[in-house]
Amino acid sequence: TSGLRDAAAAKGKHIGVATQSWYLTDSKYSSLLSNEFDIITPEYQMKMSEIQDQRGVFDFTEADKIVDFAKRKNILVRGHALIWHDALPSWVVNGNFSKTEWIQILKDHITTTVSHFKGKIYAWDVVNEAFWTNGDYRPSIWYTNIGPQYIEMAFKFAHDADPSAKLFYNDFDTEVTNAKSNAMYQMIKSLKSKGIPIDGVGFQTHLTTDGVNYNDMTNNFQRFAKLGLDTDITEMDVISHVFKGSFEAKMKATADVYSNVYKIALSLPSCKVFMTWGLKDDHSWLNEDTGFQEYPLLFDNSYNKKPAYTAMESLLKK
Ligand code: G3I
Repeated sequence: TSGLRDAAAAKGKHIGVATQSWYLTDSKYSSLLSNEFDIITPEYQMKMSEIQDQRGVFDFTEADKIVDFAKRKNILVRGHALIWHDALPSWVVNGNFSKTEWIQILKDHITTTVSHFKGKIYAWDVVNEAFWTNGDYRPSIWYTNIGPQYIEMAFKFAHDADPSAKLFYNDFDTEVTNAKSNAMYQMIKSLKSKGIPIDGVGFQTHLTTDGVNYNDMTNNFQRFAKLGLDTDITEMDVISHVFKGSFEAKMKATADVYSNVYKIALSLPSCKVFMTWGLKDDHSWLNEDTGFQEYPLLFDNSYNKKPAYTAMESLLKK
């Protein structure tokens, strides 16, 4: 291997991408991925709607393809996402159960899924996106039917099923100090004080070419690190349709955001993992999500390295 993964490993860091099982059968894609990256996340195929579409009927076929590929290529796997408000099967969305039964459903999903992959998952996103922008709890089906305790329950069930996996809370728009990251901080501080097993915070880092306040981002990450947590970047991409200027200038602005964020990632011992949400631009969810042509990732549609890749590579070569 010769890509980013070796240079990152020399600095004690992991670097990776979100993927789909159907991408891995493409030899160009899979050889580039395994050359450049040493950690992957299933973008979709470990979500509840995909693995427990019918209650009590688990199908890990596609997720196993990703995990088996990772094992063959000496690549780590982030499991995503055990408990979330989205990608839920209809029997859950339309479910009408008692609180006790909702807790059993949460426990069964976590226990069965985490046990299935026991020993093969570097880190689990145990709970994903539990907060609103204003710092209130998001009224997900889990929150509404169980209350905020669903969060600590999820972490305990996951730990019982696989004590070897790191357990993460994962969210977006929490990279800097704001109502949402403050609420996340208070919640995680409380979990730690109760001895709930939680090892890290995933900062999804879905940004635009406007970037963020990078000093504040560093301070924000450090307050979580002081709680004894990993502070990993789990889903980075950069929306650029907001940028006014030439395509070249747009790619430079995108590269600057990646460079500024990666500088922070390399500077913090608590930031062990840096991941982008996809490998190449045409695979990005953003192309559907924003309704604009986006250039959010490190490789273009023809697998060429973009200025963002080169900016990060130069930081690693220092
Ligand atoms: O694969 C099926 C296909 O068989 C079917 O015909 C088609 C129409 O129903 O759906 C396809 O699945 C889609 C899947 O992406 C393909 O990967 C789902 O509809 C679609 O909802 C799903 O969207 C994903 C989304 O999460 C919701 O699960 C995106 O790919 C994925 O990028 C996005 O990722 C989220 C993270 O999990 C959490 N953080 C935010 C991030 C972006 O929203």
